[in-house]
Amino acid sequence: MSVTAVVGLQWGDEAKGKIVDMLSPGAEIVARFNGGDNAGHTVVNSYGTFKVRLTPNGFSSPGTLCVIGPGVVVNLATLIGEVEQIQQSGIAVRDRLWVSPRCHLVMPYHPMLESIYEQAKGLSRTGTTKRGMGPVFADKVSYNGIRLFDLADDAIFADKLRLQLSVKNPIFQAFGLPPLDFDQVYQETRKLYAQIQECVREPFGVVQETLGRDGRLLLEGAQGALLDNNWGTYPYCTASITLAGGASAGLGIAPRWITQVVGVVKAYTTRVGAGPMPTELTDSTGEAIQKAGQEYGTVTGRARRCGWFDAELVRFTAQVNGATDLALTKLDVLDSLENVKICVGYLRPDTGDRLWHYWELDAHHLEECQPVYIEIPGWQQHSHEVRNFAGLPVKAQAYVRKVEELVGVPVRYVSVGPQREATIEVR
Ligand code: IMP
Repeated sequence: MSVTAVVGLQWGDEAKGKIVDMLSPGAEIVARFNGGDNAGHTVVNSYGTFKVRLTPNGFSSPGTLCVIGPGVVVNLATLIGEVEQIQQSGIAVRDRLWVSPRCHLVMPYHPMLESIYEQAKGLSRTGTTKRGMGPVFADKVSYNGIRLFDLADDAIFADKLRLQLSVKNPIFQAFGLPPLDFDQVYQETRKLYAQIQECVREPFGVVQETLGRDGRLLLEGAQGALLDNNWGTYPYCTASITLAGGASAGLGIAPRWITQVVGVVKAYTTRVGAGPMPTELTDSTGEAIQKAGQEYGTVTGRARRCGWFDAELVRFTAQVNGATDLALTKLDVLDSLENVKICVGYLRPDTGDRLWHYWELDAHHLEECQPVYIEIPGWQQHSHEVRNFAGLPVKAQAYVRKVEELVGVPVRYVSVGPQREATIEVR
């Protein structure tokens, strides 16, 4: 059995794209199982630099099937734009892209509804990526979604769209927004669908066939465990399941097949959007990490909040995902720091010196927690050119070992730069 899931163990942006790209040669299938175009992966390889939101990261390995499972919501314009970009760079992907007709569609009214909610919440807004995720998943679970299946039948699509606009347009009008025009939305969606229709085909059969003969599958998680709708910092989270377990429902792969779970973590912590982040640094060290790590969102361009590595969080997210290996990314970003800190638990006001776990707390409790740190001397040497573990500065090696000791999962990969080859495999 050879199914590897690659998942984020923090708040997303852990550089999963690079790890998936690195592991993709030899994979017969690379599949997405959650999220939508709120995800943003940067892939740097010999064909160039790609910023993709929906296309699975196997696209640069010829012969690898790129599968989008039913757990993913699809924005047709985004997907078509990516496929065009990839084709233009000389990579043929259309024949290899399989998008499940069970995928729900992000419709023009979803980002509109999201912005009504975000504005109404004011200062307590989630700070979403504005891709309509909350409303599209809400429609999905409340039986109001429109799926790619529906687009294959004009009458079915027209009926469903008419019904949705009959409910949503009065809401827009109540909030002073113009209603959406049925004909316009209908025609535009039909036009988009025609451009990608050939890739809409249920991948279940080919996935099962590959599993049955022990072929290699790589499952590409989007976002991170702390944005998971059940286990993340709700309501400062995303709408889908971001955990390895989500791959079962989101792709139709029974849990027993998933034997390796690579948990991707940055050597520090980042977060975009609102919500608690106990180790956030609002000082010059935070700024230095942000600058060295180029911490700006792929989808929104927003500056990411930066802070120390939080081993309390990652121990939890490694457990909830069943991580078998860690990929520790962007270690080189810490190269110049004099000292580095790692959080090992939280203190809460009025509860003495009892250390609290993340999983005991709600998001608003986490806001009031004080992180407890251990401090480790920085290595203050460049690690960017290093290609084997023994070649890392000794203090950097000690940092990596401390991370794996505190998290309880071995570090298998250390990444020291964006290129595929800037990776150390730890044996
Ligand atoms: P949404 O997924 O756009 O609804 O956003 C909900 C929260 O998840 C916000 O805090 C976003 O910044 C965050 N988020 C969603 N997708 C990503 C991602 O791919 N990386 C990092 N944060 C994300």
